[in-house]
Amino acid sequence: MRTIAFLNQKGGCGKSSSCFHLSGAFAQNGWRVLLVDADPQGSLSQGFLGSELVENLPSTATVAAAFEGDELLVASESLVRPTSFSNISIIPANYTLAQFNQPSPERLGLQQFALSSLLDGIQGFDVVLVDCPPNLYLCSWAALLAAEFVVIPVPPEDFGTQGLRVVHEAIGHARLMNPSLNVLGHLVTRSDSRLLVHQVYEQTLRQLFGNTVFETVIPEAVAFKVALACRQPVGYYTTRSSAARLTLQLSREMQHRMDAFTGEAGRVTYGHRA
Ligand SMILES: Nc1ncnc2c1ncn2[C@@H]1O[C@H](COP(=O)(O)OP(=O)(O)OP(=O)(O)O)[C@@H](O)[C@H]1O
Ligand SMILES: [Mg+2]
Repeated sequence: MRTIAFLNQKGGCGKSSSCFHLSGAFAQNGWRVLLVDADPQGSLSQGFLGSELVENLPSTATVAAAFEGDELLVASESLVRPTSFSNISIIPANYTLAQFNQPSPERLGLQQFALSSLLDGIQGFDVVLVDCPPNLYLCSWAALLAAEFVVIPVPPEDFGTQGLRVVHEAIGHARLMNPSLNVLGHLVTRSDSRLLVHQVYEQTLRQLFGNTVFETVIPEAVAFKVALACRQPVGYYTTRSSAARLTLQLSREMQHRMDAFTGEAGRVTYGHRA
């Protein structure tokens, strides 16, 4: 089971959208996908389950249950919900998670391991995608301690690298406690290749971070928004769109990178589980 956290403190950069649409690409390739919504906004959960259902969930039926008390009071697997897509399940979140995300001295203990403990109790998935909130508070920190990989979605407009520096610092700190954490890649999202400013930013990012930047670039495309509004990962909504094709290509690039980190022993081939 490979766990990937999608992290950037910049809001609206495509963290939830990447988790949502990539889950479809991984599932279509035969992987069993678990989504963990670690964001009190609950966007990813609403994408799959609808806002009314998600808003009305008690905290005990959400990821917040992992942060309550020093030990998990419910079985991890009882929090896993199926979606309408085979091979895609989700542990949802809603506003009840917000109280645990705020920095507070009494929450610096075991709660940082809430997501690690939660995932320790879960089996039967090939990949876990964790959607982080747009800040580096407790939920993101707990995600970094639970993950093996981090993907940093970056829209090509944020010219100060200040924000990314802080993200990398957080990852560096998390690695002190979770040495198996690796940056899987920077993902250029919401890109409009017609805009010179986006082209220049992408070049700058590639100069700064070299081949950690994924070759696949996710464009700004209406198909992503429409598919989300229809509660379908883009590859289910429209198989032939370039949005679907690029999402599939990205999922394969991610798989190859994970294979390279993990080696043959940890390899999980699409459609053929090792
Ligand atoms: N590639 C894309 N093309 C078009 N729209 C996109 C794309 N990626 C994201 N969006 C849209 O932009 C908005 C913000 O995206 P998303 O929710 O994924 O960002 P986020 O980083 O998760 O935001 P937050 O930081 O608030 O959690 C959403 O309405 C989403 O549908
Ligand atoms: Mg989000």
